[in-house]
Amino acid sequence: MSAINTHLLPQTADISSAGNLSIGGVSVAAIAEQFGTPTFVYDEEHIRTSCQSAVRAFGPDRVIYATKAFINTAMAQLAHEEGLLLDVATGGELFVVRNAGVPANRCVMHGNNKSLEELQSAMREGLHHIVVDSFDELQRIEVLHSEGLPAPKVQLRITPGLHVDTHEYVATGQDDSKFGFNLNNGDAMRAIEYARSSPAVHLTGIHCHIGSNVLSVDNFEDAWRVMVEFFLPLNLPAITLGGGLGVAYTANEVAPTMEQWASVLHRATSQLPATTEVFVEPGRSIVAAAGITVYEVGTVKPIDGIRTYISVDGGMSDNPRPMMYGSEYEAFDPQRANAPRSGRARIVGKHCESGDILIFDAAVPENITVGDLLVVPVTGAYGYSMASNYNKVPRPSVVFVRNGNARLVSRRETFDDLVRLDV
Ligand code: LLP
Repeated sequence: MSAINTHLLPQTADISSAGNLSIGGVSVAAIAEQFGTPTFVYDEEHIRTSCQSAVRAFGPDRVIYATKAFINTAMAQLAHEEGLLLDVATGGELFVVRNAGVPANRCVMHGNNKSLEELQSAMREGLHHIVVDSFDELQRIEVLHSEGLPAPKVQLRITPGLHVDTHEYVATGQDDSKFGFNLNNGDAMRAIEYARSSPAVHLTGIHCHIGSNVLSVDNFEDAWRVMVEFFLPLNLPAITLGGGLGVAYTANEVAPTMEQWASVLHRATSQLPATTEVFVEPGRSIVAAAGITVYEVGTVKPIDGIRTYISVDGGMSDNPRPMMYGSEYEAFDPQRANAPRSGRARIVGKHCESGDILIFDAAVPENITVGDLLVVPVTGAYGYSMASNYNKVPRPSVVFVRNGNARLVSRRETFDDLVRLDV
C-alpha cells in the first residue's frame, strides 16, 4: 500500500523530503510536542477557502454553516468573518455562537424538539429565521407570541419523501423520519396553511435536509426537484435546499466538489424567479478535510496469525464515527508521511471496550513503534463536536494553524474539568 494520498490532507499540507508533515507552515510533530496528543489540528486557510468557495458558488448571505459539524469560539468567528450565516440546532450551539460575537440576525435555528426556552431566545434575540419542524413547535411559538415575543420569520422543514444513499442514521429525507412535515401525507401543505393564517409567525419559505454525507449528486437533484415543484406555487421568497454534501474519507472515495454541487442546485432551481432566496446549509464539506487528529501510539500488540493492534491515546471519545456508522478512515505517521504503508493493523483507542476502533484494517508503515505519532486525516467534522469524556478521558485540544503559527483555540480538558459539574 502506498503512502497517504495527499488529496486527503488539508490544503496547505506539505511533506518534506525527509517525510515530515507540516500544515499551515507548522510541523505536525512540533504541534504534538507543544500541545500534546491527541490534538485536532485545523488548517485555517483550508476552512476559509471552503467558506469562500461556498459563498462564490451559492452567493453572499446564502450559505448557512451547520455548526454541529464543528463549533467553538474561533470557528464561529471565522465562519462569520467569511460571510456565512450560522445554523444552530440547540440553545447550546446558539450560546456558543452568540458568545463568540455573532449577531443574532446571522443565526438560524433548527431542531426537531426545540424547547420553550430555545424558542424564547430565538424570538427574543431576533434570529435570521427559525426552521420550524412540527405542529407542536408552531403552537409553542404561538404561546410565546401571545406572551409578547415578536413573531419570528420561519421556514417550514419539509420531508420530501426520498431515501438517499447514505448511512441510515444520517438519512433524513424519507417519509419515515422524525424530522419535518411530510410532503406525501399532506402535512406539509397543512403546515403552510397553518403558518399562513397564524399571526405568530412570518412564513418566508420552506426547507429540506435529505441526509448527511451524500456523495451522489443525483440524490440531491431528485430531492431538490420535488421541493422546487412544491415550492413554486406557494409564492414564498425563500427556500433552503439542504442535504449534506459528502466528503472523501479514504483514497477510494470520490466526493463532488462544491462547484459541482452548486451546478446541480442551479439546474434544479432554474425555474424559480431570480428574486428567490436559495439557501444551502453545509457543515461537513466546510470543515471535514481541513482537520486531522494527531495521536501517539501507546501499545503495539501483534497476534500471530490474527492481526496487530495499535493503540493510540484517544479513540471513540474523540471519534465515535467508526463505531456509530462504520465510517472508514486512513492513518499514517506524520514523521514519515511519504513512507509506503505496507503493514496492516487495527487502530484502536484506550477505552474499555472492544468496539473502540478507529480503523478496522488500516494500512500503516512497517515497524510502527510505541511513541510514534499517528495522524488520522479528514476528522474535521463530527469528531470534536461529538467528542465525549467517556472513561474520563479528557477531550483533546484544538489548534488552528496558519502562516507558520499554531494557535490553541480550545484547550485540552483537564482532570479538574472532569469534576467541575459534581456538587
Ligand atoms: N442542516 C441540517 C438541518 C442538518 O441536520 C445537518 C446535519 C446539516 C445541515 C449539515 O449537514 P452536513 O453538511 O454536515 O452533512 N454525526 C453524523 C452527521 C449528522 C448530520 C446531522 N445533520 C456524522 O458524523 O456523519
